[in-house]
Parts: sequence; C-alpha cells; structure tokens
Amino acid sequence: MADDPNAWWREGVLYQVYPRSYMDADGDGVGDLRGVIDRLDHLQWLGVRGIWLSPITVSPNADFGYDCADYCDVDPSLGTLADADELIAEAGRRGIRVLLDLVPNHTSIEHAWFREARASRDNPKRHWYVWADPAPDGGPPNNWTASFGGPAWTLDETTGQYYLHNFLPAQPDLNWWNEDVRAAFDDILQFWFDRGVAGFRVDVAHMMVKDAQLRDNPPAQDGDPFMYRMLGQRPVHNWCQPEVHEVHRRLRAVAESYDPPRLLVGETFLVEIEDVLKFYEGGDQFQLSFNIPFAHCSFDAAVLADAIERTERGLPPGATPVWTGSNHDISRFPSRWGGGDPDRARCALVMLLTLRGTVFLYEGDEIGMVDTPLEYAQMLDPVGLKFWPYAGRDPVRTPMQWANVPGGGFTRAGVEPWLPFGDLACNVGEQRHDPDSFLSLCRDLVALRDALADLRAGAFTPLGAPDGVLAYRRGERVVVAINLGATTATVEGAAGVVRCCTDRARDGERVDGAMPLPPSTAAVVLTDAP
Ligand code: GLC
Repeated sequence: MADDPNAWWREGVLYQVYPRSYMDADGDGVGDLRGVIDRLDHLQWLGVRGIWLSPITVSPNADFGYDCADYCDVDPSLGTLADADELIAEAGRRGIRVLLDLVPNHTSIEHAWFREARASRDNPKRHWYVWADPAPDGGPPNNWTASFGGPAWTLDETTGQYYLHNFLPAQPDLNWWNEDVRAAFDDILQFWFDRGVAGFRVDVAHMMVKDAQLRDNPPAQDGDPFMYRMLGQRPVHNWCQPEVHEVHRRLRAVAESYDPPRLLVGETFLVEIEDVLKFYEGGDQFQLSFNIPFAHCSFDAAVLADAIERTERGLPPGATPVWTGSNHDISRFPSRWGGGDPDRARCALVMLLTLRGTVFLYEGDEIGMVDTPLEYAQMLDPVGLKFWPYAGRDPVRTPMQWANVPGGGFTRAGVEPWLPFGDLACNVGEQRHDPDSFLSLCRDLVALRDALADLRAGAFTPLGAPDGVLAYRRGERVVVAINLGATTATVEGAAGVVRCCTDRARDGERVDGAMPLPPSTAAVVLTDAP
C-alpha cells in the first residue's frame, strides 16, 4: 500500500466521526476534538486509514455544524485550531489521515458574508447568495421546496427580496455562479490543506449550482421515488445542474495542486445509482462520491447484487466506488439492514468490508450499534422536530458507547450527554475482549483486507449463487458468499479455506467445492492457488 499515494483511500477503510458524540474530554456532555485525540488508539487498533470528521467549524448549530458561520476556525464547543492541528499530527503518527467536512452549498445565517449580503441590495456580498424578487402575488419567486420541508425561500423584510435555502431558513444557499464565491472556497480548501488535512467530504455536492433562471420544478408523480414525493416535486432545476461538474473540477484542481493530492468525496444524496455515477465522469471531478442509493437498498441478495453490479459496470475505468451502510443522516445498518438481528448485521459488515473500493464505517458500526429510540421531548434535530413521528436523525447521533459505566466512557459520570445514551450493554470495552464479538469480526475483516491484496484491490466479479445468496469473487482467489435467504444454501465452486466467517467457529474450515451456508451467515474463502 505504501508506494501509491492514493492507496490509503482506494483500498483502506475510512471511518466517520461525529465529533459531538465521539468522546467528551472536557466534561460538558458534548464530544470534542480532544476527545477524538483520546480515542485515536482505538481507531489505530481497529486498523482504519482515515477519518472524516463531521463539521468542526464554527456553527450556531441550527443544523449541528452543517450551518457554518466561519469556515476557517473551530467551533468553541469542540475545541480550537490548535486542537485540530494536534489531532491531525497525532492521527498522522498513527497512520491515520484526517478528512474534514466542507459545507459549500450554504452557510449559516450568522456567517459574516450573509450578514453583509442582507444589509442592502447593493452590498458587495449581496450576490454571494441567491436573491430574487417576490412573485407578482408577493409569494416566493418559484415553487422550489426545501429538503427540510416548506418553501425553499424566505422573505428578507429589510431588502424586500427572497433568499434561497434548500435546507433550513437558517442555511442560506451560496451563489456558485459567482466567481468570488468560487475563489473564497479555493482559499478555504488551501487553508486546511496547508494545515495537513488530507481532504474533504463535500456536503450536498450535487446541489451546489442551481438553475440560473430559477425555473419551477415539475410536480412529483405517483410512483416517483419517496424523496421526490416528499419534496412534492422532481428537483430537476435545483439538483444536479450540468454546471455543477465544472465547480467540482475546479475544487479537484485545488486538491491536485498538493503533493500528495488531497481527496474529495462528494455527498451525492441521490436516488439513482446512475446519477451518482455522473459525478465520476471524466475522472477529473471528485475522486469519490457516496453511493447513497446503495445504502438505501433493501437487504435482499438480488437487490444488492443488482446495485453493486450497476455501480461496478457504470464506473469509468480506474474509478473507485464508495460503500457505506450508516452515517449521521440515515438509519444505522445494524437496524436498517439487520432489522435488529445481529447475525444479519454481521452479514452486512462482511459485505461492506469485502466489496471493491473505499469503505466508510460510521462511528459505532464497529460494535453493531443500532438506532436509539427517542421520545419527542429528547429530540434536537430540526428534521425530527418538524416531521415527528418520523424521528429524524438524533437516533443515529447518540453518543458512542465505550463502556457500560455511568457516562458510558463518553463523558464523566453524572454528566448529562447532549443526546441520551443508547443501550450501553453494546460497548467497545466488553466487545474488545470477546473473540466472537461484532468488534472482533470488524477488526479481523479490516486486517484481512490489509493482508490479502485480492480483497484490498482485486477486481469484483459477480458469481452465480442459489436464491437469497449474494456471492462474488475478489481478484483471483477470494470468494465471498452471504446467505440472506431463509434456508441453508450450498454455495458451489469454492475450494479453499474459510478465512473469516460470521460464525467464527468456522474460521479455518476447509471447503471442497460445496460450502453449506445457513441463513444469515457470510463467509470469506481464500481459494486454493491454481
Ligand atoms: C447533508 C448533511 C446533513 C445536513 C444537510 C444540510 O445532507 O449530511 O446532515 O443536514 O446536508 O447541510
């Protein structure tokens, strides 16, 4: 892995840290950067090559960091720039690169740019944002709806125009048609790259550019994907505009001006895999784009096989897919795919860690953390508060479960965490010493990727398998079979040794061409050398 400066992200496992919930070093109930530093040994032990930190920049927290009031400083509740520098250095000492989260689609309403922009119509910052006159009836300039509900426009009383916000009214959209905005972000990237940051995950990357004429979106139709029906419209004029790709190319050029090149990963929160793949065209956009449609697949062998094969087939040569099962916005995979059944969650973990490409684990995935059920009164996420009884995203943001003690190993005993704990019986401390635990399985799979070049970098080849079984070969000699069906299946064709099985008692088992696989069991087989 050492010779190729890009291998760390192409082949290694990356890990998302949600800083508010990882580790609270100063005892105020909110996780912080010093806490992340304290837990780097865990990440090194797990074998991850990089971490992506959800936003650490200054934020009034209308959307918990995703409303940024200063792109070049650390939020005081999380630490200081000096802490960020130390985190980058300490992670580096452990062979772990640090990615930050860049939120370029919108700022906080409290960002100095927006304060200026709304001061008057002729303020030099005015057109850093998207303003439009009211419709003839005084209403919003067009019919766009915000991803977080309601119209995507809010009237600014002082200047008599509406500003655009595709999320909360407290998150005004930047105007990426404006050259000054583009130049400002070149500088922001450089500010962090110069501090040693290895790259960025780029928030809602597909939405940065909007239709210049602000045309109405067509209404959603029956049978449209859930997301469009929720918006009430097909987002044809505010998502995936042709010009967004130019903007990505520009940011990529900044990343490529560094040695080694820095990594950009787009959050392409899209419905169709084919739409995600457009962000790989030309090879000069971001190196990676999150395959969110894959994460939303049902946990069914045929559905998954189809999604994986469409991704692999549709990627340009040399491009790397991204596989992720959980993040701070979507239900955790042990709940969503596993349905609370630990065996199915183990199967999902085997799948994620054996596909070709970059894997992003989310904090807690390594111990099989499930979504934490919360009462309305416990919720903080504006999305959950608005769409209750849909519980929003707080259930996946509860503190990391380090130990079954008061404070959970996350904060001091007696301190109230910012969100309640989930079930502390599921925790790192106990699983670490149990060879049969989810954590041991996770660590062993990460180590197996490191040990087997086929698994790390070998081509993906789908294999025929009985109904309910997802099976593929990696490189020349690794065969993965995952039985998601209801009955025992016999997987034909693999002769070799089971290197890792969700049923750990089978590790090391010799298979000779016909491998029986009970329901909710997955095995990674190293086949005999030809
Ligand atoms: C992205 C983030 C999400 C945030 C939204 C608006 O989808 O992942 O947490 O609320 O963008 O910034």
